[in-house]
Amino acid sequence: MSIPSMTLFHNPASPYVRKVMVLLHETGQLDRVALHDCQLTPIKPDAALNQDNPLGKIPALRLADGQVLYDSRVILDYLDQQHVGNPLIPREGSARWRRLTLAALADGIMDASLLVRYELILRAPEQQWEPWVEGQRDKIRRGLAELEAHAIAELASHFDIAAISVACALGYLDFRHPDLEWRQAQPRLAAWYAEASQRASLLATQPPV
Ligand code: BEZ
Repeated sequence: MSIPSMTLFHNPASPYVRKVMVLLHETGQLDRVALHDCQLTPIKPDAALNQDNPLGKIPALRLADGQVLYDSRVILDYLDQQHVGNPLIPREGSARWRRLTLAALADGIMDASLLVRYELILRAPEQQWEPWVEGQRDKIRRGLAELEAHAIAELASHFDIAAISVACALGYLDFRHPDLEWRQAQPRLAAWYAEASQRASLLATQPPV
């Protein structure tokens, strides 16, 4: 057990933080990182976090030399270059661009999910903009449909940046948007996730109940 040399600004509910935690588990780097818990929303920022990341977003990763990395994509790339096992982000070639594109699709599903969440919990009901919420839900539905139609075999082939990102996006949908019932229209994605979600890294990083 080594003394952590890095600090991760963290909240267990964030799917973006979860991606980083899953990669730390998968690459055996958990003990290199101390967690700094942040309770924040766009209208209730975390002062300590803002000093290190002017965007006030988690995750952010403070390195041993004081440098701070953000956002989650940069942190994942950095951490993936800090271990000796197989890379979870292909370093080059067409696999790199395909796996990063799948990861970006999953991030987009998270983005839309979080925007809907903020609209519904932070705004007074009379201020909520239903067509905008529905537009975000449509992004989620289209993203899921794309994964169902074109990505199942790739997700099943190995557990890397693409699979981590999709699993964290689906976990967030289950956590905050169970009403979307995404499994109904995506049975193959549901079957993939049922198996993937049993990995130790995903079991250990489930959102709080
Ligand atoms: C949430 O509670 O859904 C949440 C909290 C922090 C970051 C992202 C999401």
